[in-house]
Amino acid sequence: MASDIEIITTTDGSSSLFNATLNETYHSKHGAVAESRHVFIKHGLEYYIDHHQPKEVKIFEVGLGTGLNAYLTALYAMQNPSLSIVYHAIDTYPMPDELVAGINYPEVLAGNRDLFEELHKSAEGADVRLLPNFMYKKVVSDIKGYNTDTKFDIIYFDAFAPEKQPEMWLLPLFEKLYGILAQNGIMVTYCAQGQFRRNLKAVGFSAERLPGPPPKREMTRVTKGFA
Ligand SMILES: C[S@@+](CC[C@H](N)C(=O)[O-])C[C@H]1O[C@@H](n2cnc3c(N)ncnc32)[C@H](O)[C@@H]1O
Repeated sequence: MASDIEIITTTDGSSSLFNATLNETYHSKHGAVAESRHVFIKHGLEYYIDHHQPKEVKIFEVGLGTGLNAYLTALYAMQNPSLSIVYHAIDTYPMPDELVAGINYPEVLAGNRDLFEELHKSAEGADVRLLPNFMYKKVVSDIKGYNTDTKFDIIYFDAFAPEKQPEMWLLPLFEKLYGILAQNGIMVTYCAQGQFRRNLKAVGFSAERLPGPPPKREMTRVTKGFA
């Protein structure tokens, strides 16, 4: 599978991956870091913190991929030492070392390469303290068969697009995600497709349409409860 995946550079200078089998990139070609900051950090993490002022926040990511969302969240934890973050990320495909080594997020973000690599190298299924206030667990599994007792405050839903991986955008998976989200928890994703939004509402989420990362017009945030 790895031979089907190659590193590309997006227009903000940050890396992404291209999956040739799916003919799909892991991020917007207009900027991986710009997209991730906009969708997951600004409209996900920062929004939740502003609204709830929690001391601890639990985040679940569907689709760890390059680790960009996890890395930006860890950097946020470094900048906000009074906040504790628990971060679980799931993916079917653990990134091989040669791809991890070629991804440029630590350089683009003036960050810490050891921390970035730990996101990929940490033992599967183990709770690891990567920073004093950042607990991390990497799960290698298909989300559709995965169960957890943890209730999360935020879900970063970062699957491949509905036209590439339709089974990731159907009711049974959203019922599962609804179940693992805490009351008043939120889920954010770059997608704003109509059928997907109808599925979210059918499961019980309140959905908001938000401006997408330029040039995308829209993205989606949903709340378990009232937005
Ligand atoms: C759009 S990419 C994720 C991008 C990632 N968040 C990042 O920052 O690089 C989608 C990811 O979902 C993963 N994936 C696909 N099917 C999955 C499944 N059934 N369960 C868990 N992960 C899956 C893929 O391996 C891929 O890494």
